[in-house]
Amino acid sequence: MRVLSGIQPTGRFHWGNYFGAIKQYIELQYENDGFYFIADLHALTTIRDPAVLRANVRDAALDLLALGLDPSRATLFVQSHIPEVSELYWLLMTGTPMGLLERCVAYKDKMARGIRADAGLFSYPVLMAADILAYDSQCVPVGEDQIQHIEVCRDLAGSFNHHYRDTFVIPAARVLQESAKVPGTDGQKMSKSYDNTLALFEEPKELRKKIMRISTDSRPMEEPKDPDSDDLYQLYSLFATDEQREEVRALYLKGGFGYGEIKKRLADAADVFLEPLRIKRQTLAQDEKLVNNTLEAGAKRAREVASSVLHRAQSACGLRV
Ligand code: TYM
Repeated sequence: MRVLSGIQPTGRFHWGNYFGAIKQYIELQYENDGFYFIADLHALTTIRDPAVLRANVRDAALDLLALGLDPSRATLFVQSHIPEVSELYWLLMTGTPMGLLERCVAYKDKMARGIRADAGLFSYPVLMAADILAYDSQCVPVGEDQIQHIEVCRDLAGSFNHHYRDTFVIPAARVLQESAKVPGTDGQKMSKSYDNTLALFEEPKELRKKIMRISTDSRPMEEPKDPDSDDLYQLYSLFATDEQREEVRALYLKGGFGYGEIKKRLADAADVFLEPLRIKRQTLAQDEKLVNNTLEAGAKRAREVASSVLHRAQSACGLRV
């Protein structure tokens, strides 16, 4: 099965990115044909400093490799290295109803928060549709916040196929139920734009401080609490072993504990998980050529697929014989 997903290099990856999406990329790379890319074109809607963007793309590639993405199993590449995607984007734009994009939450959200919107941000889901369709993707592993975009992609592909002829494979989103929407330190969805993230490769002391500042309610210690509706418990569950999770669950149900204690347990469990990844990342970063070589090979493979799909789409709509 062709599996594809993209991630924006808009800052260091956080726990939401990993448990919602990257973990799936890695799990799926063994049995499937995985295509994973760093969405630098999408990042241009927020980052307008060339040096920052360049550095972020390199960091993103190193992070993904350190987290376990294996370029001998999956294709890792940079979105903008495949110009066919931008051409396909235009073909799709001509069939995109304005109303469809006006309903998209990411755009509506930014407008509501008074963030300047440009046409790039508005048409963002169409570029995302081009990303997915360019590789005949069948399965798109993502967090919950991307489901609407994949619905837009399915709509656009369906109407193109209907209006011209069968051209695109219709993809399906894949979401992990237990980590579809990882909460941030303030209880909202963890997101770079809300400044509530816990980064994967954060300096350990800094990370511990941030964990200790996670917001919790002020109910008395003795009171039993429902673990399933508690964000701190949800975060702890991401890292804990089954045994550790059961132990903390029992504490919640019984009452008589302080949130500070759970935060300490969370910081310890996160550290056990993250420390080997930090070491791996440091080792990988010493190989100067690794990122460029990996991304070059990835682009070559991805372009082969995208150019054949673009050719198919151009023929269908009359741009080629
Ligand atoms: P981005 O860069 O915002 O996020 C990358 C992935 O992380 C997931 N994610 C989360 N999952 C669970 N809980 C959270 N708090 C959380 N925060 C982020 C996202 O759902 C996503 O899967 N538009 C995309 C990038 C993209 C793309 C694509 C994805 C561009 N083209 C084609 C799939 C297919 C984005 O901005 O993701």
